[in-house]
Amino acid sequence: MGRNQWRATIARVEAELSAEHDEMAVMLSSLRCYFAAAEVGDEAIRILRRLSDYSRGHFAREEALMDLCPSYSEASVHRQAHEQFLTRVERLMEIRDLSGELSADMPHMIEQWWRGHVDVVDRILMEQLQQQFSVDPQSLCVSG
Ligand SMILES: [Fe+2]
Repeated sequence: MGRNQWRATIARVEAELSAEHDEMAVMLSSLRCYFAAAEVGDEAIRILRRLSDYSRGHFAREEALMDLCPSYSEASVHRQAHEQFLTRVERLMEIRDLSGELSADMPHMIEQWWRGHVDVVDRILMEQLQQQFSVDPQSLCVSG
């Protein structure tokens, strides 16, 4: 496989991950609105659960990419960041259960942190992958 074909494959993977980021952004944005309006009912909890499940799958894909990229030295820090995100989402569900401790700003803070993660940490991973030649690119794509 030539460099151009490799880069095209990675660009496709990046587009798939970016679409998943968009999906997560929609959920985070909805949560921000629900919490800001102090309307943390069943719908907000449903979104929180979906965000948690969806994020787990998304992070697993990113982490599988890290495993294919020996030159990527930030894997353990990156994995920890994913765990932090999931823990924060779990805490939002706990806050709802303790309704007296509702914090309207928390979803916004999580969203801000997560956008920084996407813009910096995830971008560096994709840049490293662009330079990686030795793996089977078919294993990277959802759509094959
Ligand atoms: Fe990530």
